[in-house]
Amino acid sequence: MSEVVIKVENISKQYRLGLVGTGTFYHDLNRWWHSVRGNEDPYLQIGDTNDRLAKGESDYIWSLKDINFEVKRGEVLGIIGKNGAGKSTLLKILSRVTQPTTGTIYAKGRISSLLEVGTGFHPELSGRENIFLNGAILGMTKTEIKSKFDEIVDFSGIGRYIDTPVKRYSSGMYVRLAFAVAAHLEPEILIVDEVLAVGDAEFQKKCLGKMKDVSGEGKTVLFVSHNLGAVKNLCTRGILLNNGKIALDSSVENIIDAYSGLDVENFAERTWNNSEEAPAFPDKVVRLQSIRVLNQDGLVKTVFDVKEPISVQVGYWVMEEKYSLDVHLYFRDNVGQTIFVAMSNRGSVQKGMKQPVGLYSATCTIPANFFNEGIIWVEYLICLNPHIGLNVCVDNAVCFDVIDDKNSNGARGNWNLPWPPAVVRPNLSWDVKQIERSNTV
Ligand SMILES: Nc1ncnc2c1ncn2[C@@H]1O[C@H](COP(=O)(O)OP(=O)(O)OP(=O)(O)O)[C@@H](O)[C@H]1O
Ligand SMILES: [Mg+2]
Repeated sequence: MSEVVIKVENISKQYRLGLVGTGTFYHDLNRWWHSVRGNEDPYLQIGDTNDRLAKGESDYIWSLKDINFEVKRGEVLGIIGKNGAGKSTLLKILSRVTQPTTGTIYAKGRISSLLEVGTGFHPELSGRENIFLNGAILGMTKTEIKSKFDEIVDFSGIGRYIDTPVKRYSSGMYVRLAFAVAAHLEPEILIVDEVLAVGDAEFQKKCLGKMKDVSGEGKTVLFVSHNLGAVKNLCTRGILLNNGKIALDSSVENIIDAYSGLDVENFAERTWNNSEEAPAFPDKVVRLQSIRVLNQDGLVKTVFDVKEPISVQVGYWVMEEKYSLDVHLYFRDNVGQTIFVAMSNRGSVQKGMKQPVGLYSATCTIPANFFNEGIIWVEYLICLNPHIGLNVCVDNAVCFDVIDDKNSNGARGNWNLPWPPAVVRPNLSWDVKQIERSNTV
């Protein structure tokens, strides 16, 4: 079990942004001149960091920088990170779709990969032909592929379209076939980018199950996903990429915690320090100051286990003793559906009482075992009490991610869908008993 099957040493990948074409003659010449003299490529040294938010000075970015890690046989490695962190680039280098700019990789065994939609299949060929093409590329004989063919078509669930060119497939159908091919052609190493998200919930569940089976057979799996619940459920180890570098190589729990730490600034906390930028009532009597998502210990967090209580704390200024106020928090799911609205006038603030001048804080705590897995967005609104006339609100002010490690076989049952259709999953008590001892009515 401890045999190393993938070894990545000092991998870096540089891309040039913008138009890459004939305008680079001077650069090419300069680069060539440096290489003739045996010097390092000058353009590799002016690369900016790979941060999609920062405005860069040069046209070159390091998608990946000094990546080193090893993967052992049978490991399921989860790779997470923000958009543009370099995850897909890393998988492409490992699948040999693209070359690293520097560094070497060592991989032992047949690698089968499911990268972005569009790689690996020839658009003009039918599903059937693509299965054989992919098998052949992986070094399988025609007989071997034939023996797997029915299983692949069956798993993909697109049998009716198997003789249609894949360019006519919907993206979901494409991914179905691509995953089925990648997972069934007996790879020693299976690499899956997050394209699975294109498939429907039922298929995603099937794929996660299949990946679990594959890893159970002693195969190695590398899995990129933004679905932290799925990563937690599936992976035995994790790598967190940030701005093209490995921020952490550790247990899945640790990387998810660290990932939530990265996002704290962006998503779990918002503050408005100066009066200019702070959202306010039109007459400026009420001004928003902050909103943050906290755990039981009062720490700002973005990822919560379903079994943890979640608090949302807001701060606001009252500049004049003029109004009776009410704080409303709208909790919404990922598609914008309101799950519930929390209103502070149901809490400790007295109805009809004019709020004196000062800085206020209001905290609403959602009990543990309430939300189902998924991302929850919070809208922050302050209005008059009763709710007529003035108000100030910030839509999508903060968000948090609820995940379930599925290790509890307790009261929440064994609902095992990673993408469940329901947004809440309260901890219910049931009373099931026999009320009649005979089978005659
Ligand atoms: N062919 C390319 N040419 C230029 N830049 C590229 C190219 N491919 C990737 N990049 C850049 O490399 C960086 C990393 O991209 P990559 O696709 O690896 O990110 P990612 O972590 O997979 O992000 P996401 O979560 O959005 O899929 C990005 O800044 C991207 O713009
Ligand atoms: Mg990607």
